[in-house]
Amino acid sequence: MKKIIITIDGYSSCGKSTLARQLAEQLDYLYIDSGAMYRAITLYFIQQRVDWADHVQVKNALENIHLQFVYNQISGRNEMYLNEENVEQLIREMLVAEKVSEVAAIREVREFAVAQQQKMGLQKGIVMDGRDIGTVVFPHAELKIFMTADPAVRVERRFKELYEKNKNITLHEVKENLELRDYIDANREVSPLRKADDAIILDNSQLSIEEQLELVKQWVEDAVLEHSS
Ligand code: CDP
Ligand code: CDP
Repeated sequence: MKKIIITIDGYSSCGKSTLARQLAEQLDYLYIDSGAMYRAITLYFIQQRVDWADHVQVKNALENIHLQFVYNQISGRNEMYLNEENVEQLIREMLVAEKVSEVAAIREVREFAVAQQQKMGLQKGIVMDGRDIGTVVFPHAELKIFMTADPAVRVERRFKELYEKNKNITLHEVKENLELRDYIDANREVSPLRKADDAIILDNSQLSIEEQLELVKQWVEDAVLEHSS
């Protein structure tokens, strides 16, 4: 079967990475979590006390950042490495979530990340999720999905996930963070979160993980067929 590029964009905690990971597994595609890259850059800026309002500091810091996805046999997942250190857990923490949208709005940061993401797409058979994948990173992708879900459902989903790891987290804190990130992501000057004109909308407020996967697998088949001729 012909391999294609699948992009999944949308608001935070809709289930993009869950869907992208499952699709990649079933289709034997490469899954790239572009958000992990912005999270890792943010972690570096926090750790190194980079003042990201200062463009010179940002440029210098980016020169010292090496990002890599490394496959972990045990988890069966690609994990994020920042300067040869596994930061997969650290980048999911609230400390990073609180700042990542500010950092991801910086032009130099986006150019740095997008260039690497486009290189990864040179070989087809890739599923990438994020905010600007269908609009900026792969504008010619064969299948573009724009995911959305009721905000209350999204808050509940993310809260459950974070609470399992940290019992101190509150629903209010998670709600505030999601609202803030969605606002910054959708309103920034550079590559704002936006549905690509040719993206299919997937509202999964009422869909289980299994149901959404079945639906999208059909879309993949259709897209492959359409682009095989
Ligand atoms: O928490 P969630 O999985 O929804 O977010 P993420 O995919 O890990 O992305 C974290 C943040 O990175 C987003 O809120 C955006 O600010 C930024 N991001 C972006 O600007 N462009 C992308 N392609 C991916 C993420
Ligand atoms: O990548 P994104 O931030 O869009 O979301 P995610 O990390 O894939 O999913 C957030 C949470 O929602 C996870 O705990 C998923 O298991 C859950 N989820 C769900 O309950 N039902 C769905 N239809 C999709 C995701």
